Amino acid sequence: MTSTPLKIAIAGLGTVGGGTVELLTEQADLLAGRAGRRLEIVAASALERPAGLALDGVQFFTDARVLAREAEYDVLVELIGGASGVALDVVRAALERGKSVVTANKAMIAHHGVELARLAEQTGANIGFEASVGGGIPIIKSLREGLAGNRVTKVMGILNGTCNFILSTMQDTGRDFADVLAEAQALGYAEADPTFDIDGIDTAHKLAILASLAFAMPVSIDAVTCEGIRHVSALDIRYAQELGYRIKLLGVATISDINGEMAVECRVYPAMVPLSFPLAHVGGPFNAIVTEGDFVGRTVLEGRGAGARPTASAVVADLMDLATGRVGPTFGVPVDRLEPRPTAPRGTGRSAWYIRLMVRDEPGVFADIAAALRDEKVSMEQIIQRGRAPNQTVPVVMTVHETDEAAMLRAVARINGLSSVAEPPRLIRIESL
Ligand code: HSE
Repeated sequence: MTSTPLKIAIAGLGTVGGGTVELLTEQADLLAGRAGRRLEIVAASALERPAGLALDGVQFFTDARVLAREAEYDVLVELIGGASGVALDVVRAALERGKSVVTANKAMIAHHGVELARLAEQTGANIGFEASVGGGIPIIKSLREGLAGNRVTKVMGILNGTCNFILSTMQDTGRDFADVLAEAQALGYAEADPTFDIDGIDTAHKLAILASLAFAMPVSIDAVTCEGIRHVSALDIRYAQELGYRIKLLGVATISDINGEMAVECRVYPAMVPLSFPLAHVGGPFNAIVTEGDFVGRTVLEGRGAGARPTASAVVADLMDLATGRVGPTFGVPVDRLEPRPTAPRGTGRSAWYIRLMVRDEPGVFADIAAALRDEKVSMEQIIQRGRAPNQTVPVVMTVHETDEAAMLRAVARINGLSSVAEPPRLIRIESL
């Protein structure tokens, strides 16, 4: 064992920071045995010194920027969060000093990953961000190392534990969205600003990172289109169950040949997932990620996507790489070899769909809806309407066979314009395997 420890500075001692201190303390001997050297916390910062964390002998700062600039360390662990501001300042400061960085900050990597990777290359530092996607699931290593022999064509997953908890609980209890969101917040799953979770922004950040690794392209949040789960109702969840699906918020990134160019599509949306698909059974706050590679075929990773201990596990995996010298370019290849990819044009994708309408219960309604679908060449698969409520609104639910997205949107716009349709149709994509 070398006598030189890996000297660690931790910026941010919240949930994940606390978990990281705990792991490094509790497993100190195990880590030293594996790395051949000790992993030692030498400095830390937080707005206030937290009680109950084993930080004896650790130099303490209340200003993370001062910690980054002045403390003596080998690696700075950034656990403050936020796309810019203090988090970005401290990471830049560490990299400028040639110090490596480990971070759980998906927003910062999604928005500034290329700039930071370039800076790291210039100063001979390294960046680890395993904890930024999927909590404790080792998906970054999986894409960067384990699947390095493949052309990855698709990466998709349940990337936000809060949304998955909300949708699973709505499914299990029949409760409404707002009620379950309050519970998710009380349990500590949600981001500081829960709109990041429920509007799909957190998933979009994570998907941008995965797409960059999977397709060797510069990470870019602009390439991701995003729809959240606010409009998913208890009614849709019930119908999904009846039709043999689960509604899941998915991030899906694909690369395909469009007119001779490899174009990328990155989307976040709530989808009907068939029960035969592994993601349908991932419940509660868990995350899962599916990849498709040309030699390996499909792989599935599932685990805890948030929380102190799982996320600390991912942070420490990066620290162990730095301690043992298992390092490489941030996104798998040097920044100059990341290839910008065109974005697949909107409306070109094909999918099957679920449509729920609220219509007035009167003669001729089905005929008008069917005419709109016929005119746009959309082929109906199933239709459900139950009950009788003359002069009131009733739900009508349809599924349609795979069709062009543009045609589906045109048909829905026409249906929305019918006088018998009382509120905008709910349209949910049915995920194909
Ligand atoms: N708010 C995130 C989630 C935490 O719910 O998954 C981990 O990024």
